[in-house]
Amino acid sequence: MENLNLVSLNHFVTVKDLTSEEILALINRAEFFKKGGSVQKLTKPVYISNMFFEDSSRTHTSFEIAERKLGLTVIPFDSKHSSINKGETLYDTSLIMDAVGVDIEVIRHSKNKYYQDLINTSGKLNLGIINAGDGSGQHPSQCMLDMMTIYEQFGKFENLKIAIVGDITNSRVAKSNMQLLKKLGAKIYFAGPEYWYDKKFDEYGEFSELDEILPELDVVMLLRVQHERHQKDTHEAEFDSKQYHQKYGINKARYQKLKENAIIMHPGPINHDVELSGELVEAPKSMFYQQMKNGVFMRMAMIEAVMRGRKLGGIQ
Ligand code: NCD
Repeated sequence: MENLNLVSLNHFVTVKDLTSEEILALINRAEFFKKGGSVQKLTKPVYISNMFFEDSSRTHTSFEIAERKLGLTVIPFDSKHSSINKGETLYDTSLIMDAVGVDIEVIRHSKNKYYQDLINTSGKLNLGIINAGDGSGQHPSQCMLDMMTIYEQFGKFENLKIAIVGDITNSRVAKSNMQLLKKLGAKIYFAGPEYWYDKKFDEYGEFSELDEILPELDVVMLLRVQHERHQKDTHEAEFDSKQYHQKYGINKARYQKLKENAIIMHPGPINHDVELSGELVEAPKSMFYQQMKNGVFMRMAMIEAVMRGRKLGGIQ
């Protein structure tokens, strides 16, 4: 993976337009940072703000560490005490950030495609937008760190058998991951309750019985049950976590059926004893810790790609 071109992007809001070369180049760059490779010296300050309108622990912290490692100046933004609560629009809030000199906004928001208003503007707004999760739409940074984690384990994507399990319709991680895994040549299976499966996912993979495919899998990608996005008066409202764990959760018995070098992934936060037995969170096949570690280096690569695309800080 040497000699890959460095990626340049104006925004990083979705993974769907990335080419396979760009994905591999970003993984390559993230691995370079992980091995201690030095960051480029900024010739001008670059200001970045993390604007999280939905809760976050790992994504927010990991973006902030990545920004500081790259030498950026982080401008605090507290969504709970912002003028959004006085009715200001996200566009107008971004206009303030632009006017005061912020170069890049990292945004998490509950509205799907919130970023469209911010990037397709004919007005003065001209900030780089990095999507840290939009509703049930996309989660580019989680997806890219997942690709990095899979690549580290297998050195390839082609023909890997990967199951995405659980609350697929409501998960932005699932949406981004199915798009890139298909592009990279993996074979995707979906498993879990049917009411969380939509026919439109058929173009990416095959809906299957978890217990039938388990011994064949290279990667079991678990999704959090997204209670906050569930509708009242649907199957979701009757969700029974014990039953779910019995049918689809990774417990000791299922863990033992996995191939020798298979891995389990979870974007976090984990509902213990629902998607995964609490005692398996740090088991050898669980990549949970590894994913969080890789997140910092991948986010460095992603932010750097946007800095390069916008010619910020004088980086090449
Ligand atoms: C994910 C998210 O916010 O979509 N969390 C994360 O960023 N690691 C997954 C989730 O909340 O289930």
